[in-house]
Amino acid sequence: MIFKSVHYPNEMVATRRGSPLLIGVKTPKKLKVDFVDVEFGNIDEIPADVEATSSSLNALEVPKLRRSESRAFLSEDGQPQQIEYFLASDPSAVVEHTKRVLYLLDDDIAHICNGELHIHRLRRDDGISSIRSIQTLEIELAEIMKGSFDHFMQKEIYEQPESVVNTMRGRVNFDTHKVTLGGLKSYLPTIRRCRRMVFIACGTSYHSALATRAIFEELTEIPVSTELASDFLDRKCPIFRDDVCVFISQSGETADTILAMRYCLERGALCVGVTNTVGSTISRESHCGVHINAGPEIGVASTKAYTSQYIALVMFAIQLSEDRTSMTVRRSEIIDGLHALPSQIKEVLQIDQELQKLAKEVLYKEKSLLIMGRGFQNATCLEGALKIKEVSYMHSEGILAGELKHGPLALVDENMPVILIMTRDSLYPKVRSALEQVTARKGQPIIICNKGDDAINTSYKTIRVPQTVDCLQGLLTIIPLQLLSYHLACLAGVDVDFPRNLAKSVTVE
Ligand code: G6P
Repeated sequence: MIFKSVHYPNEMVATRRGSPLLIGVKTPKKLKVDFVDVEFGNIDEIPADVEATSSSLNALEVPKLRRSESRAFLSEDGQPQQIEYFLASDPSAVVEHTKRVLYLLDDDIAHICNGELHIHRLRRDDGISSIRSIQTLEIELAEIMKGSFDHFMQKEIYEQPESVVNTMRGRVNFDTHKVTLGGLKSYLPTIRRCRRMVFIACGTSYHSALATRAIFEELTEIPVSTELASDFLDRKCPIFRDDVCVFISQSGETADTILAMRYCLERGALCVGVTNTVGSTISRESHCGVHINAGPEIGVASTKAYTSQYIALVMFAIQLSEDRTSMTVRRSEIIDGLHALPSQIKEVLQIDQELQKLAKEVLYKEKSLLIMGRGFQNATCLEGALKIKEVSYMHSEGILAGELKHGPLALVDENMPVILIMTRDSLYPKVRSALEQVTARKGQPIIICNKGDDAINTSYKTIRVPQTVDCLQGLLTIIPLQLLSYHLACLAGVDVDFPRNLAKSVTVE
C-alpha cells in the first residue's frame, strides 16, 4: 500500500505484507553506501496486552518512530545530492528510470519526506536484518521493450532459443554429460531419501510439473504427485517431514502457491522453489531451489517461462538421479537432446507463417478446439488449450487421448476442430488408434507430428516439428500451439498481452 495525503504534501508512506514492493533510487552521482538502516520502534518496551489498540498506543505515546538522516543518499564525497524514488511491485517497472533498487520486507514501513528515505519497523523481530541493501538490477531495458515485435507475447515466444540456453547456462556440461544446479547441491542427499515428491503450482507452471513428472519418476524412482495449489489447500493434503515439496512459479508471488508452501513449511517438509524471479517470496522462503533465468516475462500468457521451467525440472531430475548408474545412458541421451534444443526451437519458429495461415483460414471462426495427445504430450495438450482460451477467448480443451472413449469422443463430428499430437515415441501406436477413432467419426484432425514421419497420410493437415528425446518433445510441440494462440488472438482483436479478466501475478487467493 502506498499512502499520500493533502495534509502531508511531498511525503509518502509505503508498506507491504504478502505482495512485493520495491523502491528504485535514482541519483546523479554514486551513492556513498549501498544500504539503508532500518529504524526500529520501541514497541518491545510496552507490555504485550496494551499493544492491541491504537488508543492505548496513543495514550502511551508509543511506538515512537526514530528519525535519523539517511547516510545512503549522500554522494561519495559526503555531500547531499538530488534524488528520485520510484515505488513498484516489479523491477521491470522501474528499470527504465534506475537500476538501483531496494526490496522492502513484509511489515517494513517506508517513509519518503524531504528527499530522504526512512525505513521503519515497529519491533525488532528475530532474524530480520537491520539494513536493506540497495541492489543493482541485472535486467536490461531492452529485455522489457518490445523492440521490433508487435506484442510481448510474440517477443517472448521468439526469445525461446535464447531463454532455454540461459536456463542451462553454467549448469549443463554437454561434454561430461553432467548437470549441476548449485542451489540444490547440498540438499540432494536429503531429497534422495524422501518418500515422495509433491509438485505444487498454478496455471502454466502446473503444466510444467505435469510435463516432467514421468521423467522424474523414471530417472529417480521417487513417486511424484502433482497438485494445483488451490485444490491442495482446499483438501488440506497430508504432508510429512520426509516429503519434498516443489513449488513452481514464474513470478514467485502467486498467493495460492505461497500459501501452499507455508502450509508445507509448517509441517516440516523440505520446500524447493523453482521460480523466475530472484528475491520473490517463493525464492526467499523456500529452503533451496532453482532460478530458471528465463528473463522478465511481461505477456500475461506465459510462454518462455514454461519451456524454462520444463528444462529446469528435467535438469533437477537428471542431477537427482546421478547416483543411479543404470540411468547413465538415458541421462546422456537427454543431455544430448538439450544440446540440440535451441536450434530445433528456431526450426519450429520458421513455420510461423504457416501457422498464421492455419489460424486465419481454418480455425479463426470456430467456436471450439480440442487438443488431444497422451503420455509426454498430455501436458502439451493442456497447456496449448490454456494458451488458446487465455488469449483468443476461444473455448479449447486439452484431452488425454486415452480418455477419448470415456466421453470426449461424443463431441467429435465433421464440424469439430481437432488438433492431435502424434510424435514418434512409445505411445505412437496408441495415438494412431485415437486418430482412427476420430476419423471414423468424420473428424478431420490437424496433426502435430515429427518431420520425416511418412506414415502419416498426406491428406491430413500437418504441423511438423523436429524429433527429439521423448521427454523433451513437449518443448517443441508446445511452440506451434503458442504461435497459433497468438495469431488467433490477433485475429480476434484481443489485447494479446493483457487479456480481459486475467493478471500476470495473481497475488490474491
Ligand atoms: C496467472 C498467469 C498465468 C500463470 C499463473 C501462475 O494465472 O496469468 O500465466 O501461469 O498465474 O503464475 P506463476 O507466477 O505462479 O507461475
